[in-house]
Amino acid sequence: MEPKIITIAGGGSTYTPGVVKAILSKKDTFPVKEIRAYDIDAERQDDVAIIVREVVKANCPECVFTTTTDPEVAFRDTDFVFAQIRVGKYAMREQDEKIPLRHGAVGQETCGCGGLAYGMRTIFPMVEILDMVEKYANPNHWILNYSNPAAIVALALKKLRPNARIINICDMPVAIMNGMADILHCDPHDIVPDYFGLNHFGWFTDIWVNGESRFDELKKHVLEHGYLCDVPDEQHWEPSWVHTYGNAKTIMQRFGDYLPNTYLQYYLLSQDIVDESNPDHTRANEVMEGREKTLFDAIARYKETGSYDDGMFVVGAHGTFIVDLAESLCRENGGRYLLIVKNEGAVADLPDDAMVEIPCYVSPRGVEKVSVGHIPTFYKGMIEQQYASEKCLVEGAIEGSYQKVLMAFSLNKTVKSSTQAQAILDEMIDANKGYWPELV
Ligand code: NAD
Ligand code: G6P
Ligand code: MN
Repeated sequence: MEPKIITIAGGGSTYTPGVVKAILSKKDTFPVKEIRAYDIDAERQDDVAIIVREVVKANCPECVFTTTTDPEVAFRDTDFVFAQIRVGKYAMREQDEKIPLRHGAVGQETCGCGGLAYGMRTIFPMVEILDMVEKYANPNHWILNYSNPAAIVALALKKLRPNARIINICDMPVAIMNGMADILHCDPHDIVPDYFGLNHFGWFTDIWVNGESRFDELKKHVLEHGYLCDVPDEQHWEPSWVHTYGNAKTIMQRFGDYLPNTYLQYYLLSQDIVDESNPDHTRANEVMEGREKTLFDAIARYKETGSYDDGMFVVGAHGTFIVDLAESLCRENGGRYLLIVKNEGAVADLPDDAMVEIPCYVSPRGVEKVSVGHIPTFYKGMIEQQYASEKCLVEGAIEGSYQKVLMAFSLNKTVKSSTQAQAILDEMIDANKGYWPELV
């Protein structure tokens, strides 16, 4: 397959300049003729496009770049859709984080009640995108989806559109592995992980470099420093992320067999997280004051001066991973990635229809899962509880069932009791008017 056209859904995303730069920086092995940005917010997308055009001019001026809010124009004959939509934008992320915190529960955009709320907003807009892509795109297209909460989005889309050509992905393990490469003094592309779990809910069970396990060295490092290393990650360097990377140390001290995904802090250290959080100023505020402001300040400066600073956006694990994956779908290159795929026996003892995050080989033939086998009871129990919470949420959204959504909130490990779950849910319903399906 030739990667002629790529459509970025969520063209107004703060990540769009970095993703475009990542695409164009691979032009020798992954030559793209046209990039289209698609968003429902024309003003935001047009602003971001100002910087994207400069990125195109600097890296591959022969590549055509256009913006649109018309799905037919966006998806007509497209080969790849890179999806990164945020339904309700940062204003709603803020609600996802602050409402649970006000009730004494973890407030996070993809984990706990916040993640469930974000899932309720995102399922049906993603279904609409899948249907439009199916209608207009090249029949051999691939949709590579970053849109969060990826665990819930993946589960819902597999249920509602089982045949869609979509691969759901997350950049967190890749960012962690970049840090591992720094710790082990090797090339990040040489890190080969063994891993299992759900999205934002998984564990590394081994790390191989050139045929040799380096897991014990890594575990020793994480026991002393968490995931903190010498060269800070381009994407996750702000104080709250540094704190998160450091928290892997505490988790390892308690459960030292496997290396945790950073997001497990919200489940295994939930009370500590609540105690440390400021319900009036959460990560959403930090991002609005940080990544979003830096980008939009640069856009405003460009409008005044006609110049921009290439360093104000990141390519990072985010941009590199999605383009590496797309390239492996076009050209046999032995690509092996952690992807969110239907379990179907890959992790023994977990349900067939769970969407698990596991290693997969990727080629023009598609995705081939690596079998994980049996997993120990502690990890299996945690995953089953989280999966049940996410599954109830998906069913609740589809059936419009208040009780199923309440079950999802009550089952979540970040929630203490169904009384707390109900109080949070009722406030969430008010805050999400116009975004959530109606619940009766
Ligand atoms: P952002 O708010 O800057 O950008 C999101 C864009 O999506 C906005 O321009 C918005 O108008 C647009 N949008 C919303 N609904 C849409 C729809 N129905 N159709 C088309 N466009 C729509 O957000 P961001 O911080 O840049 O993040 C973008 C997304 O990528 C989020 O979902 C975020 O969680 C996700 N993300 C995922 C990973 C991962 O590991 N899976 C990593 C980074 C970001
Ligand atoms: C990681 C996760 C993403 C998430 C992002 C949030 O990269 O894998 O799923 O969207 O962190 O980062 P932020 O800087 O927006 O808090
Ligand atoms: Mn992620």
